[in-house]
Amino acid sequence: MLIHSASQLLTLQGGPQRGRALGALGIIEDGAVVVRDEKIVAVGATAELRASYPNEPTLDANHCVLMPGFVDPHTHVIWDGDRADEFEKKMAGKPYLEILAEGGGILSTVRATRTASIESLIAQTRPRLLRMFAHGTTTVEAKTGYGLQTATELRLLKALLTLDDETPLDLAFTFLGAHAIAPEYKDDPQGYTDLVCQTMLPMLKEWWDTHAPRRPLPFVDVFCENKAFTLEQSRQILTQARSLGFPLKIHADEFDNLGGASLAVELGAVSADHLVKTSDADIAALGKSDTVAVALPCTPFGLAERDYTPAHKLIEAGALLALATDCNPGTSWNESMQISIALACRYMRLTPAQAIAASTINSAHAIRRADTIGSIEIGKQADMLILSVPDYRHLGYRYGTNLVRQVIKRGQIYSVDVGYYRTA
Ligand code: NIG
Ligand code: FE
Repeated sequence: MLIHSASQLLTLQGGPQRGRALGALGIIEDGAVVVRDEKIVAVGATAELRASYPNEPTLDANHCVLMPGFVDPHTHVIWDGDRADEFEKKMAGKPYLEILAEGGGILSTVRATRTASIESLIAQTRPRLLRMFAHGTTTVEAKTGYGLQTATELRLLKALLTLDDETPLDLAFTFLGAHAIAPEYKDDPQGYTDLVCQTMLPMLKEWWDTHAPRRPLPFVDVFCENKAFTLEQSRQILTQARSLGFPLKIHADEFDNLGGASLAVELGAVSADHLVKTSDADIAALGKSDTVAVALPCTPFGLAERDYTPAHKLIEAGALLALATDCNPGTSWNESMQISIALACRYMRLTPAQAIAASTINSAHAIRRADTIGSIEIGKQADMLILSVPDYRHLGYRYGTNLVRQVIKRGQIYSVDVGYYRTA
């Protein structure tokens, strides 16, 4: 298939973009792409590719933007129920961590999720994933973390494996048994930390080897925060995970600076996420490392907080910056990377080009998949979007309506067209 006549083909070629290099879109005007068997086989100008592939079936991009599918590298997409009541309380002034300390927040979703059947969890999560897909997300990371007991955490993974098989999206998996202190260990956080290390992680390894033997091991993540896991407990969990061969992620500095970002660098974590209250020393450490800094602007927005990830400090330090939705029922129920981009432009002062690179090639790198997705280059998986607009800057500029017209996933075309765009 030859996709032709893109006003702007955003290739994002050349690998993850560090520091000030962020925002190189690699634009080809009047661009075209040839796809065969799920993969990209040619990239260039329309006239050139039409001449080299005269008999190829065609798809007209109608002078709109053609770009890589979004990669959302941080979500908590699987859960039961909702927390509309808490949203109301938070907007009336009650702090998020106070609700958690009183047994609500994450723990109220844990209570609901523990009693939900796997069928119900799949049925609730599927439409969330499909809405993400309709908004242009072609690969999504998904965390467990609303079980906080071995059996439920593994049930969540089982449901996610099923959803990976039955939806057009590709999922990347993360075990977040250390999302909060389990209610049974309310007065013994160290006891729960030891349980994660001594029981859950070894069982996870064994479970994965039987249930998903051909897939890479999932990431292991920790919520390093006051009222969740201390820096020392986070170190204990991540060190144990690393010794079992798991790649690492961390929730760091969402509300307080505990040093989680520097811990991530020290342990060679794939990413450190949130990074709102991150210190200058932590930023300097990230800047010199391969740990991707994942910003989640929907989270302070969702909580009506003032501070956002200091993107420009990270860029100046030379860090690899990525964006995600953090989709979850407590702090950010947003399924669209287009909203993350719009907020990143306004509150983190990214340009649309920087936000797009942070949502494609760099976010692919944040889940270790930049070798196969995140850009339009020969040999990569054909995961692409045709927008309904001629200029990439409409991403960021416009928000709240879906600018994606067609999603191309592994070479298959899915139409989400609302039927109004410029034609030649
Ligand atoms: O990334 N911070 C911890 N985890 C989520 C919130 C989860 C929840 O409130 O249910 C986050 O913001
Ligand atoms: Fe999160």
